[in-house]
Amino acid sequence: MAITGVLRPGHVALRVLDLEQAVHHYTEILGLAEVMRDAQGRVFFKAWDEADHHSVVLRKADEAGMDYMGWRVDSDATLDRLAGELEASPLATETSWIAAGEHPHTGRRFRFTIPTGHVMELYAHRDVTGCATGYLNPEPWPDGLRGMAPSRFDHCLLYGDDLDGTVELFTKILGFNLAEQVVAGPDKLQIAAFLTCSNKAHDVAFIRQPMKNKFHHCSFLLGSWNEVLKAADIISKKKVSLDLGPTRHGITRGETIYFFDPSGNRNEVFSGGYIWYPDKPTITWTDDQLGPAIFYHDRKLNEAFLSVVT
Ligand code: FE2
Repeated sequence: MAITGVLRPGHVALRVLDLEQAVHHYTEILGLAEVMRDAQGRVFFKAWDEADHHSVVLRKADEAGMDYMGWRVDSDATLDRLAGELEASPLATETSWIAAGEHPHTGRRFRFTIPTGHVMELYAHRDVTGCATGYLNPEPWPDGLRGMAPSRFDHCLLYGDDLDGTVELFTKILGFNLAEQVVAGPDKLQIAAFLTCSNKAHDVAFIRQPMKNKFHHCSFLLGSWNEVLKAADIISKKKVSLDLGPTRHGITRGETIYFFDPSGNRNEVFSGGYIWYPDKPTITWTDDQLGPAIFYHDRKLNEAFLSVVT
């Protein structure tokens, strides 16, 4: 197994203002499957090609945003080792263990707060309830897909103040690599970091800005540019709040469109991007080229895209 340690983003837990409007959005528009509701009123979802029980969790709250993001690690031994290293590090605060079963079909989780103020979790076990096509002689995609129908939850982009500390935690403790970065000014201050734990251009990204614990978007993978265009059609047809796109990012080369759920949480669906290997040099963008770095076609920044967060 070449990918070890932290394997991938496993879940994102979001706050929404109106649960039924949100469920409609995440099932009928985005196209996830609702898998269960628990006694706390949380709703759990998964995308059609995901094996594990769930990947998206919604709860009703007075304020939109992200509660936490979870990472699947390869084993209990890795979970214990990384928890020990995080507990011993000043970079991780508010560390705690959450008992198995608190998330349905999921083992114990180690929770910690990173220097940008976001809550992260590690876990080693979640029941494999299977993807929609199965694993024996599968069809390429299942019948009955709705909405944009991404194959999986892919990454989050998060805003926070102590970018240096968060990048150090992810690279030095969790074993991530810096695939791309944006630097600003004569001192080349790092203002954005795109971090990978796998073969992807990013599994999580962070932007430096003054406030702690802000959520920019969670992103879901589509199969092609044509599916991104179809997502744009769905956004118009269903009168969803469009943010930006369809376009291409210079950073990661992904083909993308952004929109908002009814509570104002930004979603992305995207396709493409490159394959990352551990010997690939870090790509650096300078802030004078931020336009094409973010929106390759327009080559211009969009203030709302940069400043609207939950
Ligand atoms: Fe993204």
